[in-house]
Amino acid sequence: MIFRQLFDKISSTYTYLIASEKGREALIIDPVLENVERYIQLLKEIDLKLVKVIDTHIHADHISGIAELRDQTNCVTIMGDKTAADVVSMQVSDEELIKIDGLELRALFTPGHTSESFSFLMKDRIFTGDTLLIRGTGRTDFQNGNPRDSYNSIFNKLLKLPEGTLVYPAHDYKGEMVSTILEEKKFNPRLQVKSVNEYIEIMNNLNLPNPKLMDVAVPNNLKLGIDLNKQKINNGIEPKEFNKFLSEKNNIVIDLREQSEIDKNGKINNSITVPFPEIGDYLNNNKHKLHNKKILFYCAIGQRSTLAVQISKSYKYNNCLHLIGGLKKWKLEGF
Ligand SMILES: [Fe+2]
Repeated sequence: MIFRQLFDKISSTYTYLIASEKGREALIIDPVLENVERYIQLLKEIDLKLVKVIDTHIHADHISGIAELRDQTNCVTIMGDKTAADVVSMQVSDEELIKIDGLELRALFTPGHTSESFSFLMKDRIFTGDTLLIRGTGRTDFQNGNPRDSYNSIFNKLLKLPEGTLVYPAHDYKGEMVSTILEEKKFNPRLQVKSVNEYIEIMNNLNLPNPKLMDVAVPNNLKLGIDLNKQKINNGIEPKEFNKFLSEKNNIVIDLREQSEIDKNGKINNSITVPFPEIGDYLNNNKHKLHNKKILFYCAIGQRSTLAVQISKSYKYNNCLHLIGGLKKWKLEGF
């Protein structure tokens, strides 16, 4: 496995790059916008293809690099399913697996610092976002934070992991880089409490100033997605119209989601599955089959399908359309 811990000096954010030696597919957790060129450079230098990028939660202290990475690499953007950020092309639920070639991460819903925070477990290590920090815990006084949820997430979920599990947080302000569950259990001052009420008492009396960038970062991070207008301009069609095309003969319907999403939310009849990261190869290898066909793409909320239309054009497929708002909108409109 390839593993890099990258640091942003301004916001003291840790960004993680994970990849499999064999498949050369990479995943990035909590990227910072200002450092995107550095990530891209590093990916090139060690010969990796970025396929997925995750934000553990909506950050208040920096603007996420998730959208810029999507625009530059066509990677899938992932957050937990409680988030209000519109950038997310694939929402994961508690316990859902996120796969890249040769590696998998388990999503764990760990609210408290924010109401939508997730942690991600990969074998011997956990990426805790701001839920659990080294000798600290993420503040719970904004973004629907809640000290009781924080306590439950930490005590009933994270501290239940094997004690040797490595803890990699999203921030550290003192230069600490990694800890373990055992160390935090024993030495994290906020966790030396006898009851949930004692923890709540501590968290409610931290009296911290708001992060400097909060008023800029939060609204920005909520709006990094490919909105419905942009989806429409890229050969997007509304669900009703999409359905008309479904009944036509000379078409091929491609579902760009992953198996875990299909298992969770079902699919449109007669569609074939080509997970978004594989779409370039699929188009390249099936020129005969796709010749003269109309391609109809769809995904969860229309972001991956917008990108798929753009990719198709680069392979000279011009007869392709995609479902605006994805399966979510299609269902909302009663189909
Ligand atoms: Fe945070």
